[in-house]
Order: sequence, then structure tokens, then C-alpha cells
Amino acid sequence: MAKPDNDASLFDVMYTCRSMRRLKPDPVPREVLVQLVDAAIHAPSSSNGQNWHFIIVQDAATKKKIADTWRKGWSWYKETIGSAGLRPGEDSEARKRNQKAGEYMVEHMAKTPAIIFVAVKKDEVVARAIASPTTVTAAVKHLGVGGTARLLRGSGRAGITGIDATAYPAVQNLLLAARGLGLGAVLTTPQLFSPGAYEEILGVPSDVTLTAVIPVGYPKGRFGPVSRPDPETLISWDRY
Ligand SMILES: Cc1cc2nc3c(=O)[nH]c(=O)nc-3n(C[C@H](O)[C@H](O)[C@H](O)COP(=O)(O)O)c2cc1C
Repeated sequence: MAKPDNDASLFDVMYTCRSMRRLKPDPVPREVLVQLVDAAIHAPSSSNGQNWHFIIVQDAATKKKIADTWRKGWSWYKETIGSAGLRPGEDSEARKRNQKAGEYMVEHMAKTPAIIFVAVKKDEVVARAIASPTTVTAAVKHLGVGGTARLLRGSGRAGITGIDATAYPAVQNLLLAARGLGLGAVLTTPQLFSPGAYEEILGVPSDVTLTAVIPVGYPKGRFGPVSRPDPETLISWDRY
């Protein structure tokens, strides 16, 4: 697909790509949604597997089911993890603002123009290669038994088969593309708080993992600047 004719500056987009949780119900044209996915799949993927799948929900009845499930997950999240104490230096007002926006998003989910589920399909070729006796023998030779055990333990979502690691560069591309095209979007993970529920609603097969959910629509507010600390506070040079 051709890239959009859009002269938004990369750094302007990146520095104003805030989480937008208040969205207008106005529909987003299908070709724009396809453009977002096209931008997403220009991201890198583990072993160049390119094993993404995008489920874009616009159907009202499906959105209602998603909204109901989301509300239940949100209610236990906000009473537990969402109520954890502040981190050192965390701005309590910013936390409250985020929670209010989160509440709004959940309450208006059924009216969100498009809800994009980013999924990653199991890379069978790499999974077979990891489990093969040749790989295990080679790993033991290079890493020892302990190192091999650590390697195999980490071979799930975050490990060398890279389910989430394959998802998130694509997710970030999608968020930046949405911002570049004037759309509001937010990276969310409600699937973690209602395991299996969205998979059932959407008919997701067992070899496909939902990794992120991105509500998309035209924003109600303006794209203000993203607020982050001085980068020097996060860097150590040459050694941790
Ligand atoms: C792994 C991950 C999971 C997230 N899950 C949620 C979520 O479930 N709901 C939500 O509203 N935001 C979620 N966010 C967005 C963060 O809350 C957001 O990036 C943060 O508050 C900073 O806001 P800003 O991007 O506007 O600066 C998630 C972000 C990441 C990286």
C-alpha cells in the first residue's frame, strides 16, 4: 500500500503522541484504518516472522460485548493495581487525570468508532526449531545446562519466540500513524485482566495471542505535548 501523502514531521508526531482516551463517535473511514495497519506492519518482527493479525471491530453488537467485558476488568483493576501507592516522584494529579480519562474511555467504549486488537500468531517454524534436539544440544554446548534452562523458560511471550516483542513495534507504528493522520488512539491491555474473554467474543484461535487493544477515533481534545522527565536522569553511560 502507498504511504499517505502527509507531511507531518516525525518529531512533532512523536512528541505529541499522547494517549487519547476521549474520542468522538464519528466513524473512521475503512481505508484510513487499513492505512494504520499498513503503517503497523512496516515495523520489525522477531526473526522477521511478520506474524501479526489485526482484528478491527466496528460492529455495534460486538463493541457492546467488548465494552461490558472491559467494564468488569476495569472495575477490579482500578480497585487493586490502579490503587497502588504512588511511585517515587509520581505526580498524583497526573495519576488522577489518567484514571478519570480511563473511566471515560471505558464508559464510552461501545461508541468508539473502531477498536483494533493487535494479535500475534504463533511462529510454528521458530517454535519447532527451538524445541528441536539440535537446538537444545547446541544451546547446552554454548550456554551450559543452567543457561539452556533459562533460555527455554524465557521462550514464551517475552522470550526468543517474541510474541509481545513482535507486537509492540507494530503497535507504536500504529499509534504514530494515527497521530500523524489526526486520529486519537491509546495503547491498552484489557485482555490481561479478563483472560480468555475477548478471545471468545472475537473467535480468536488458540495459536493466536491478543497483545494490545487500541481504541481509535477522532479526538475530542487537542494533542498536547507528551510529558516525560529529563532523559539524562534515565541514562548511565557505559555501565549500569
Ligand atoms: C504495556 C502497556 C499497557 C498499557 N495499558 C493501558 C490500559 O490498559 N489502559 C490505558 O488506558 N492505558 C494503558 N497504557 C497507556 C499508558 O497508561 C500511557 O502510555 C501512560 O499513561 C502515559 O500517557 P501518555 O502516553 O499520554 O504520556 C498502557 C501502556 C503500555 C506501554
